[in-house]
Amino acid sequence: MLKIKHVKVNYQKELVGVTSVPQFGWVIESDDKNIIQKTYQLQLSLNHNFNNIIYDSGIVNSKESAHILLDNFKLESATKYYARVRITILSGQSTDFSEPAIFVSALIDSKEWEASFISAETEQDADLSKATYLRKEFTINRKVKEAWAFTTALGLYKFYLNGQKVGEDELTPGWTSYHNHLLYQTYDITGLLKDGENAAGAMIGAGWYKGKMGFMGFRNHYGKQTAFLGQLIIRYEDGTQDIIGSDESWAGSDAPIVFSEIYDGEIYDARLEQRGWNEAGFEAEEWNKVSLVEFDKKVLTAQGASRVKMIDKLPAKKIFCTPEGDTCIDFGQNLTGWISFVAKGKKDDKIEINCFEVLDSKGNAYFDNLRAAKQTLIYYFKEDGEIEYHPSFTFQGFQYAKITSWPGLPKLEEISAYSVHSYLEPTGSFHCSNPDLNQLHHNVLWGLKGNFVDVPTDCPQRNERLGWTGDAQIFSRTASYLVNTYEFFTKWLVDVAADQTKEGGVPHVVPDILKPETMHDDWLLSQGTHSAAAWADVAVIMPWSMHLNFGDKEIIKKQYSSMKSWINFMQEHAVEDIWNYKLQFGDWVALDAEEGSYFGATPNDLTCTAYYAYSTGLFAKMAASIGEKEDAIRYTKLYHRISDKFRKSFFKPDGTMTAQTQTAHIIALYFDLVSEEFRQTTVESLIKLLEKENGHLVTGFVGTPYFCHVLSQNGHTKEAYDLLLKEDFPSWLYQVKMGATTVWEHWDGMKPDGTMWSADMNSFNHYAYGAVAEWIYRVVGGIDTDENHPGFQHSILYPHIGGELDYAETKYESPYGILATKWEVDKNVINLQVTIPHNTTSTIRLDTDEIFESDGLNFSQKGGISEAWAGSGDYTIKYKSR
Ligand code: BGC
Repeated sequence: MLKIKHVKVNYQKELVGVTSVPQFGWVIESDDKNIIQKTYQLQLSLNHNFNNIIYDSGIVNSKESAHILLDNFKLESATKYYARVRITILSGQSTDFSEPAIFVSALIDSKEWEASFISAETEQDADLSKATYLRKEFTINRKVKEAWAFTTALGLYKFYLNGQKVGEDELTPGWTSYHNHLLYQTYDITGLLKDGENAAGAMIGAGWYKGKMGFMGFRNHYGKQTAFLGQLIIRYEDGTQDIIGSDESWAGSDAPIVFSEIYDGEIYDARLEQRGWNEAGFEAEEWNKVSLVEFDKKVLTAQGASRVKMIDKLPAKKIFCTPEGDTCIDFGQNLTGWISFVAKGKKDDKIEINCFEVLDSKGNAYFDNLRAAKQTLIYYFKEDGEIEYHPSFTFQGFQYAKITSWPGLPKLEEISAYSVHSYLEPTGSFHCSNPDLNQLHHNVLWGLKGNFVDVPTDCPQRNERLGWTGDAQIFSRTASYLVNTYEFFTKWLVDVAADQTKEGGVPHVVPDILKPETMHDDWLLSQGTHSAAAWADVAVIMPWSMHLNFGDKEIIKKQYSSMKSWINFMQEHAVEDIWNYKLQFGDWVALDAEEGSYFGATPNDLTCTAYYAYSTGLFAKMAASIGEKEDAIRYTKLYHRISDKFRKSFFKPDGTMTAQTQTAHIIALYFDLVSEEFRQTTVESLIKLLEKENGHLVTGFVGTPYFCHVLSQNGHTKEAYDLLLKEDFPSWLYQVKMGATTVWEHWDGMKPDGTMWSADMNSFNHYAYGAVAEWIYRVVGGIDTDENHPGFQHSILYPHIGGELDYAETKYESPYGILATKWEVDKNVINLQVTIPHNTTSTIRLDTDEIFESDGLNFSQKGGISEAWAGSGDYTIKYKSR
């Protein structure tokens, strides 16, 4: 039966907190093949029954079922909207109206903020990391129709109404370039209000805003005082409304969290609890007056989706005693989040837990790689009895925890861990006959979970956890296969643009706390705090990745000037089209670095110029896609000039590259900077460089993500699989064999004898090298987008069989629905099943010259490759393996 499976708003199934009309899209369901939409009708209503239609597109002749923008429709503030769709298809059938998707608007105009930022702290508290309470009572004496809360903080907050926490979000409002961009959250609070006296309460912690952030240990990057901003809109059945906003009439007090820091953990002293502080009727006479804090409300932006939540609950797996005599817990998974416990104790008893990632070679707790981060949770009992606790304004990166203090003996069932990260709908899945490869895929996903804590970070455990732009650049496409990154990345890209220098330079970390005014590292300051190739290029490559996976043009428009100014910055500093600038990370942590250095052997001129060309080329394509014709022409010309220069500068007349590193060859090939006459030589040289290392990579952040791609794109799929499946150091599966449950920062983070790479930079949860999962999706599963029809409107399905796998099953939920391939090897025959979403088409490409069963598809053959165009639906194809 033909139907609309679901409607999406801004690529989400639900969106609570928008200030501009979202884009619409829908997924079509049918058992038939070749479904192409002919018309659609989109309606909006203020209720589920649609008896009050406020927008009707009418019947629109259009094949578009994604990225639909509405003309002439304006949102009202604090309103719940329902959107439904029906369609007809080319063959004449039509659907009923879909189930509606819901979206909720926030405060459309910043002038609607009547509330003020209030603080229970003073500037003298600048060096304290305590949490504070704020409260206010109010009366409701009419019947409430609906009520909404809009809340945020300078710091981190939890908001309560009548004793109950509002919403399921954590670590709100997240981390942004606060003075340019501060998010607030929107909540439906209708069910939390009651007749008579009500109480609103907020607890605020230092968080990223005021706490200690950065490896230099400085605090107060954005301000010296935490503050809360909240506005409730209460609409009554009688048509009137009340606005309750944070203001000077609220009262403030210290909270039982006496210390809370992102890196160091939390100290909760239950003896300071004030029971009922967030409920009506609480005696708050001793509370203090609050002060108003100046902050520009124009920078407030509603957050729609991708909020941080407690997501997976992992029970403790094992409690054990280390050779050094420490009692430790193993959760069986390296994760980012919180330990939660239930414990029985007596008044003044103390619980102390220290979180860490790995055991050392002797099986003892290893804290050295946390550097200065304490990752410690401390709880003091108020009275005899049982308590339940998890922290609030911090997070830890850990698989293990040492129990330094506990009343009596801890029991396994009393302790569990929660992963805490931005909730992004899963979109990808992969399973094959090789359990180690499945584990690698799992590790990549958990690397994402652990490092998508409101901003894309490098690592979640040591005193860093920063939005390193290079790591996010490398991983952005992989991430967009694994989960729906749309809201997460669009939010972070606002900060990329906000924190760009006036000249267009892009900081090394976003939000940028390495700015000269807040940075005190002489070396970094003198070398340069912004604009490193492959890092800064995130400004262009991340929007490009999103364009490919979502087909979205709005993101290009939004980031356009940020992208353009980055390209212009490079052009400004290039000398005769060779770009290089101050501090460069180059092929960071590559194994061909000199002993003791993090900087790989590929020269900076080459890496920088390659990225200069690549980003310029992508920018020109994006300019063309949104009709910026002049820019498209100008930057295409620039791209050709840089590429020519690259070819002249980094290739010798005999076709060999000036830099004999794997990475030089990889980026030259992947970025298409090799002239056709030298392509074969370049590929052969790369193979030789690989053979020289006995089939191992020695690449770092720059070369690694593309290594398998350039091999499979150039007729060396076998070598690509061999590289992916290598099991000895250095390789992805070496880590898996060593028991990794996330991806490591270093190929040899832990040596075969269990000893460690230097403790100064050795994260066991760093997603960068996990970028290889993009190859798993695009090449093993063969699910790729066609650049000319992005968002998988037309996909290329080209699974590459290999790696001695018996089968591989890959799925990806595109904006149009699920794309899937499953191939099984039966001696010389490959059985392939594919699913193509409705209202999209595919080119199915196979490495074969003989198709046994084509399921009605028309394959043509050329050079050992069979190709067919396919409409939507499920197909089963049998073909001879090569
Ligand atoms: C981070 C990296 C980052 C690098 C740049 C490290 O400390 O963990 O992932 O990209 O610095 O130098």
